Amino acid sequence: MTATVIDGKAFAARVRDKVAVHVGRLKADHGITPGLAVVLVGEDPASQVYVRSKGKQTVEVGMKSVEHRLDEDTSEVDLLGLIDQLNNDPEIHGILVQLPLPRHLDEDLVINSISPAKDVDGFHISNVGLLGTGQKSMVPCTPLGCLMMLREHHGSLSGMDAVVIGRSNIVGKPMAQLLLGESCTVTIAHSRTKDLPDVVRRADIVVAAVGRPEMVPGDWIKPGATVIDVGINRLDAPEKGEGKTKLVGDVDYDSCAKVAGAITPVPGGVGPMTIACLLANTVTACCRANGLEEPEGLTV
Ligand code: GUN
Repeated sequence: MTATVIDGKAFAARVRDKVAVHVGRLKADHGITPGLAVVLVGEDPASQVYVRSKGKQTVEVGMKSVEHRLDEDTSEVDLLGLIDQLNNDPEIHGILVQLPLPRHLDEDLVINSISPAKDVDGFHISNVGLLGTGQKSMVPCTPLGCLMMLREHHGSLSGMDAVVIGRSNIVGKPMAQLLLGESCTVTIAHSRTKDLPDVVRRADIVVAAVGRPEMVPGDWIKPGATVIDVGINRLDAPEKGEGKTKLVGDVDYDSCAKVAGAITPVPGGVGPMTIACLLANTVTACCRANGLEEPEGLTV
């Protein structure tokens, strides 16, 4: 069997188109422009790339983009002051503080100081609780993107066995909640899981989110299963020339694609969906803030 490749890049472009249409309507019918503020503290090179990309795509769909780049040694008081200002700014509907933060800043405190209604990352403790109890919330972008692709590929996920490898607050835990919400039987596996290969072999859906390059080989995959690869790992690629690098996921693509029914590639799978879902969450937050109907199909 050769797996169907789930094209996250094309799917993300369709999500962005939907967002752009809705933004156009908000502007034309209500004079409202959704606004997203992104806060970056320090100089982490990967974070700088993400933040630039987020800003560019925000503008491309017609929204207002505001970037706050703060020094590495910014104090907690100053950062909380900025978040308070953004919480109270009526032109800002979404706030994202790029993680990781420098070590002297308390990540939980900072995230929980964002107004839950503007928490387009879905990381605030209120949104985590709402998602866990099946109530309307802001849903974390990467798991939301994974779920959109799974729903599009399968339709109903009801009764399927799903294994999420990784228990992070950003991906693993919210992904498990979303799959539970779709009536999957969900297992969260992690570094201490006994007999991981056998656990993964039972799954109709495998979501790999561990941050370990090519950790999942094809012989762990049940024939016909759907594999969603959240990993983005940069490796040296001397075969491409001196100093060259390549991106690989958390699954060994070539061996898994021979066994799976469907698989997301890296790059071009989950990655593009994450930013598309951030834009979708910002429009959703803007509609909720203004008591307007939410766009269909852009959240759970
Ligand atoms: N760092 C890595 N992924 C994310 C994300 O989804 N949101 C934020 N805020 N920071 C991140």
